[in-house]
Amino acid sequence: MKFILASQNRHKLKEMQDILSADGVEVVLEADIGLKIDVEETGETCAENAMLKARAVMEASGLPAIADDSGVCVDALNGAPGVYSARYGGPELDDTARYRLLLNNMRGAHSRTAHFTSAIACVFPNGDTIEAEGICPGTIAFAPQGTGGFGYDPVFFLPELRKTYAQLTPEEKAAVSHRGKALAVFEKKLQEYLKNQ
Ligand code: IMP
Repeated sequence: MKFILASQNRHKLKEMQDILSADGVEVVLEADIGLKIDVEETGETCAENAMLKARAVMEASGLPAIADDSGVCVDALNGAPGVYSARYGGPELDDTARYRLLLNNMRGAHSRTAHFTSAIACVFPNGDTIEAEGICPGTIAFAPQGTGGFGYDPVFFLPELRKTYAQLTPEEKAAVSHRGKALAVFEKKLQEYLKNQ
């Protein structure tokens, strides 16, 4: 089974491939089949945005499509940046500038608790859909640590492991992360779906 990933993010592709390839599922980026679909993320939740992205790519390609929409929700910021995590601070910021802005906005905060959330949606050409979600609780570090991963990884701290996402190996991150958990639920639902075909 092959899915087109509705994303330009090769880090997300790798995290998905690492988990789903064990089930014989192949995932390729939309760019790898010559597509570049700009979907306006108008949903109010990650789940809505994931479904918007997957549906748009399925309709453009005629192939099964999968999307992940993620965000980091910080309690001291009333859940921000949340669904706006990719656009936090405006489109001109890169990953580093975005997490620096987050650290600045948390100066003096009494709590640093946060969670990462991932919503996975897949849409088949016959209109069938599968959805899954995963959450990983953590805190926002006082300073970036580690060089692995992408996005907010250097500032997302896991108190139990005493490491940020960026200090974990890809296997360690997959075992605890929001995306790893969402993909584990997705895998089960996909196997169930394929059994009934
Ligand atoms: P989107 O899901 O592509 O809209 O991404 C949401 C934002 O969260 C982007 O800024 C990503 O870089 C960031 N993000 C998504 N997943 C992760 C992750 O696993 N670690 C760190 N940052 C992430």
